[in-house]
Amino acid sequence: MLSTSLLPIRNERATLRTMRHSDADAYAAGTRDAAVRKYGHLPEPEYTAESVRALIDGPIREGLDDGDLAVLAIADPTTDDFAGSLVLFGATGTSVEVGFWVHPDHRGKQLSTGALALAIELLRRSRITDVTARILIDNDASRRALERSGFVRGEAMHDTTPSGDSAVLLHYRRAIEAIEAFPLTTERLRLRLHEHSDVRALDRIYGRSAVARYLLDEPWTMPETVRHVGERIAHTGLADGGTKLALVVEHDGAVIGDVTLWPTDPEHRVAEIGWVLDPEWGGRGLASEAVNAVLSTAFTHYRLHRVAAQMDARNTASAELARRVGMTAEAHLRQNWWSKGEWTDTLIFGALAGDTDPHSGRPDRAPRAANPQRNRPL
Ligand SMILES: CC(C)(COP(=O)(O)OP(=O)(O)OC[C@H]1O[C@@H](n2cnc3c(N)ncnc32)[C@H](O)[C@@H]1OP(=O)(O)O)[C@@H](O)C(=O)NCCC(=O)NCCS
Repeated sequence: MLSTSLLPIRNERATLRTMRHSDADAYAAGTRDAAVRKYGHLPEPEYTAESVRALIDGPIREGLDDGDLAVLAIADPTTDDFAGSLVLFGATGTSVEVGFWVHPDHRGKQLSTGALALAIELLRRSRITDVTARILIDNDASRRALERSGFVRGEAMHDTTPSGDSAVLLHYRRAIEAIEAFPLTTERLRLRLHEHSDVRALDRIYGRSAVARYLLDEPWTMPETVRHVGERIAHTGLADGGTKLALVVEHDGAVIGDVTLWPTDPEHRVAEIGWVLDPEWGGRGLASEAVNAVLSTAFTHYRLHRVAAQMDARNTASAELARRVGMTAEAHLRQNWWSKGEWTDTLIFGALAGDTDPHSGRPDRAPRAANPQRNRPL
């Protein structure tokens, strides 16, 4: 079952979203391209804007509702314009096949690689553990995009294409590691992956000037929150090609903040952590409890060597939180960061896997509100 309610999702290269009537012209034009005709294995002999709109309202809608077929748009991440198509089909309990094409005007920007990375995160969150692709043997562009996305080449064999023709097809497969570690639960909190329904709560938190004060960003507007949540939904962890972990912090069913972990030197297992807590929930040790849980995951689940936290030196509540969870104050950089019209100092904290107890925070000791930190990814 494909969890298409998690769409749209985006990264710096592409947006993956459901199809809209306004995509119909560009979709129909893309299908007339010679490479798409040859390699795309499209089920229909010809597409017009009208026939695409009928497909969107008919079989595409039904596939999404049933959760076994997802005909999606690959969109430009800046304009959201239609740039190509990615199809997840033949979904069984744990496996699915992928097909894709990019409109000739948008080729060469690794849009397909961006879209494949997003599709893999969507499948991971749909509990699918195996994705396959079949391509014509001379399809070098597709081969490169698939191999860049972690697909492993299998055999070439006579086969029936998804459009029903007979051809020699090269088989590719990518195993997808399941999400086992999340949600995290602590005494008072649940830390889980992001969903679109978190937009309201996060907009309330990030829209506050008190929260934005020590962030690099100004207070978020609603469209910015929507965009950030669309990115964070795909931030499922650091393993298996994942680039970030973004968890919302829930207390009694309400979202009260978030904690993020991202590698700064993946090869040597060095990462950075960031956190934000709704100021209304400050003073109860909840942020320490959340950060402790993620530090624990960083060292025990991801086996990281080092986790750092950086913050504006004026952010004393955040610095105290870092100390409380057992991080060591390592540096105070003077006026190294130009932020919001002035030079600011930076505090750097670090925790090492080899520290006696790197995540020994004591949430019961003088808890304070955590404030956002400076280099956190948004
Ligand atoms: C395969 C395809 C989706 C790749 O899309 P893309 O977003 O342009 O892919 P990338 O930018 O990652 O480029 C992948 C490869 O395409 C080739 N390429 C790059 N720019 C290109 C261009 N302007 N035109 C054609 N091919 C190009 C290169 O070989 C590139 O590999 P490299 O970056 O390692 O040199 C696209 O070429 C396409 O739609 N082809 C027709 C349909 C198809 O083959 N679908 C796959 C069937 S499953």
